[in-house]
Amino acid sequence: MLEALKPQPADKILELMQIFRDDPRADKIDLGVGVYKDATGHTPVMRAVKAAEKRLWEEETTKSYTGLAGEPAYLAAMTGLILGDAVPDGRVAAAATPGGTGALRQALELIRHASPAATVWLSAPTWPNHPSIIDYVGLKRRDYRYFDAATGGVDLAGMLADLDQVAPGDVVLLHGCCHNPTGANPTAPEWAEIAAMLERRGAVPLIDLAYQGFGDGLDADAAATRMIAARLPEVLIAASCSKNFGIYRERTGILLALTPEGGNRATVQGTLAWLNRQNFSFPPDHGARLVTMILTDPGLRAEWEAELEEVRLGMLGLREQLARELRDLSGSDRFGFLAQHRGMFSRLGASPEQVARLREEHGIYIVGDSRLNIAGLNRETVPVLARAIIGAGI
Ligand code: LMR
Repeated sequence: MLEALKPQPADKILELMQIFRDDPRADKIDLGVGVYKDATGHTPVMRAVKAAEKRLWEEETTKSYTGLAGEPAYLAAMTGLILGDAVPDGRVAAAATPGGTGALRQALELIRHASPAATVWLSAPTWPNHPSIIDYVGLKRRDYRYFDAATGGVDLAGMLADLDQVAPGDVVLLHGCCHNPTGANPTAPEWAEIAAMLERRGAVPLIDLAYQGFGDGLDADAAATRMIAARLPEVLIAASCSKNFGIYRERTGILLALTPEGGNRATVQGTLAWLNRQNFSFPPDHGARLVTMILTDPGLRAEWEAELEEVRLGMLGLREQLARELRDLSGSDRFGFLAQHRGMFSRLGASPEQVARLREEHGIYIVGDSRLNIAGLNRETVPVLARAIIGAGI
């Protein structure tokens, strides 16, 4: 039986991670996978997470099963973090999932179960695992225009023209903030136009929220999600705690499924729990428990918010420094978009050959589509990158 298996295509981001590890050069720079690193190149355990783990170790008396959809306290705390008071509780069904990818997978399973003929629309470009999982679960997909390579911004006219083709009941996958891989995000008035188009077409938004707190702040990064949630009758939200709590390997995420007021929330809630049971039974609990403690304890929460803000402002400072260095070296403003972009990523607009030159000649690793992870830089490596970018003719 197993002889019938064929090799699967490698995930480009994870493949790059391995090539970097195998590179013996001491001065190599990893700007590939989306993991936050501090100025020393380390991905730290956040202070509030460490304190919550210590408390959990002292207080936890059992490792018995939780609820199939996760602990109600976790679901409530995360719903509050994501939605604030944008929608009444009676609209929200929720389930804990193994990370943000687990939430996306469960969202797509839910869509397939409810509406197998639906098409899922994806921004061009998007995170490569989006089309991969959609194909795996057997749903149809189409692209909508998103990125304007000439300006490094959002191609709103192209996006709206393509979303005007969406059929009622189709799903439109949106990046709630900090678009991956481009770093380009709609402004608040542009989001309102997008929401109006989705409303007019009868679309179901599926919002991927993996970087809340990494762009303009915790509330600002959730503003588009909250506006869409308040405005459209059915909305799916797949959120991750990997980045903003720095608990990547704990696999902590949540899927929210919003129904119209007076709708079938209870059935949707039951379906989410049932889907968990089919796929992995009970969701991972350790990370979810830490997140619950942090979000519900005022001291831990203040500590977490302060550290997250340091991380966010650090990345913004690196963006500004890189844009400045490139302006000085190139004598032009063509890299100004780097300071406008938000989140960990920016797409540079380099060719595959130029990306290969950065790697081969300078030991600088960025993803093949020229996405770079700003958080992989520090004050000393920004000028090195800037010189290499200009040297590679980008
Ligand atoms: C990324 O895009 O680099 C991150 O989301 C990590 C991953 O799983 O690909």
